[in-house]
Order: sequence, then structure tokens, then C-alpha cells
Amino acid sequence: MPASPTATPDHIKDVNTRYHDAAAEEYDAKWGIDFGATGQEQVRQKLVKALGGRRGESFGAGLEIGSGTGYFSLNLLQLGAIESLTATDISAGMLKRLADTAAGLNLEVETVQTEAEELPLPDESFDLVFGHAVLHHIPDLEKAFAEFRRVLRPGGVIAFAGEPSRYGDRLAALPKRAGLFVAPAWRRAVKAQARAIAEAEQSEGHSLEGEVDVHAFAPADLRRLLCECGFEDRHVGGEELLANAWGWGLRTVEASAEPDSVSWGWRRFAFRSYIALQKIDTRLLEPHLPAELFYNLLVSARKPA
Ligand SMILES: C[S@@+](CC[C@H](N)C(=O)[O-])C[C@H]1O[C@@H](n2cnc3c(N)ncnc32)[C@H](O)[C@@H]1O
Repeated sequence: MPASPTATPDHIKDVNTRYHDAAAEEYDAKWGIDFGATGQEQVRQKLVKALGGRRGESFGAGLEIGSGTGYFSLNLLQLGAIESLTATDISAGMLKRLADTAAGLNLEVETVQTEAEELPLPDESFDLVFGHAVLHHIPDLEKAFAEFRRVLRPGGVIAFAGEPSRYGDRLAALPKRAGLFVAPAWRRAVKAQARAIAEAEQSEGHSLEGEVDVHAFAPADLRRLLCECGFEDRHVGGEELLANAWGWGLRTVEASAEPDSVSWGWRRFAFRSYIALQKIDTRLLEPHLPAELFYNLLVSARKPA
């Protein structure tokens, strides 16, 4: 459920800050975020797809918008796809998690708590401005993209991945409903215990969940935005159809059980099946189907030199 159309930008930003502060501690576990070889490979593929298939491109100074706990940026830094990282987020809780993880991985990062529409950063200071699953939370995208352009060096690149498409967002409702329907039978089959109404679900974070999303995109809207903000070499693509449908179904059934009662065998199967479907999406579907059909959209463009 997206934010109400009458919600003010300040309200949306406030809700995003509080929701993500509350979610920060459990975020990596909830989304299966990995900073090892698997996570790095996923992120490498996303960057290549966002850049329209350009492999091996690497950048100097990187600025992440809405970095969260660092899924995209810390993996890109480990891969050497960026030389240095400034990670920004509206949520101090998320940035703290990112800084802790970076320290554990021996990575040097600068963190800046800020919203995307007004970046307290100098003009023309980055080679890559990027993000994952963040644009759909930002109330004024024209303002944010003008900021991305301002802080980019001439010839610099923006790349965003993991943005929900309007059609994909609707499609995701089906596996969620199917997951709810089969959950009791699934729990019996895998001997998992039904989840009691969890404390987390009565928490502030949970009650804010329905208010944090502002947009689901049509590719044409993103192309227009890039054009109006003066970017060139514009690319909008789609990723994940089968993997996403399966992933939403898995997440829904798993959320119906006490986490400790779900066996490692099941978790391994769920993860491997998701990765297998991701490969089918990448090899067979993404090159041939229109971007709007996929759950996630990826965007890139260049600031004129
Ligand atoms: C869905 S999470 C994605 C986090 C991370 N990029 C990832 O992929 O795991 C969205 C992130 O955007 C941040 N965010 C939300 N609204 C924002 C805004 N207006 N400006 C900057 N960051 C924002 C949230 O605090 C959160 O960390």
C-alpha cells in the first residue's frame, strides 16, 4: 500500500526516517543481505544491467543515495567497481549499521545523513551517483535528480536498480495472496510452527510500513525524468519476473512461521531455487521482454561532458 496521495513530502520523509531507523537492526537478516561472494555477484550483475550491459566499467568516487545497510555500495566497493564511497541515507540507524559492517570488512567509507533532495555535498565531486530500491521513496524526484546532476562531474554517471515497476508491483500481489493461501499446508509439510502475533508487528516500524513507498514506475516516466533533467545516454531496463514472483511467495509463507522453526534445509532450497530462477530471468526473459513486465526497473544515464 503506497503513501496516501495527500501525504505531504515532510510527512513521507519523517515516516521513512522512523520506519528505516526501526528496521535497521533486522534489515540484513530480513532481506538475506550478503556481503560475501554471492552478494557481490548479485550487485555486479545489477550494475551491469543498469548500465545497459556494459561490463567491467569502474568508477572513481561513488555516492550512494539511500544506502541503507550497504547492500549495494559495500559490495561494489569490495568488487573495486568504485574506488571510494560516500554513503548517504535519511535514516541514521541504517547508516550506523552500514558503518559497523564496513568496519568489520575493513572498508573505508564516509557516511552522511541526508535526504536525497538536498545533498550537503559540493558540486561536481562524484563519478558515479547510484542507489538500490530508493527512488520510489523520494517525494520530489525532479529535485533529487537535479541534485544528482549537480554533484556529478561532467561525464559522470547515475545508476539505480531495484525500483518497483507499476505492473510488476501489481503482479507481486498474486504470489503474496497464493503464499497466504498455502501457508498452513506449507507449515505442516516443513514442520514449522505458526507464528504468534509478533512483538515486531505491533511496533511502530510495522505500522509505518504501508506509508513509506511513494512511487511505482512506468519506464516511460523514468525516461522522461532523465531527459528533463538533462542526462544523456539514457537507459531503462527491467529485471526479475519469475525470481520475484517466487521470492514473494517464499517470503509470505516464511513470514507465517516462527523464524527459528524453519529448517536450514528449507532455507537452502528457497535460496537456491530463487537464484536458479534469477538465472532464467537474466538469460531468457530480460533480453526479450519489455521492461514494464518486470518487477524491478534499472536506470542509468550520463551527465554531458
Ligand atoms: C528499501 S531501503 C533500501 C536500502 C538499500 N539501498 C538496499 O538496497 O538494501 C530504502 C532506503 O532509502 C532510505 N530513504 C528513504 N527515503 C529517503 C530520502 N528521501 N532520501 C534519502 N534516503 C531515503 C531509507 O532510509 C532506506 O535506507
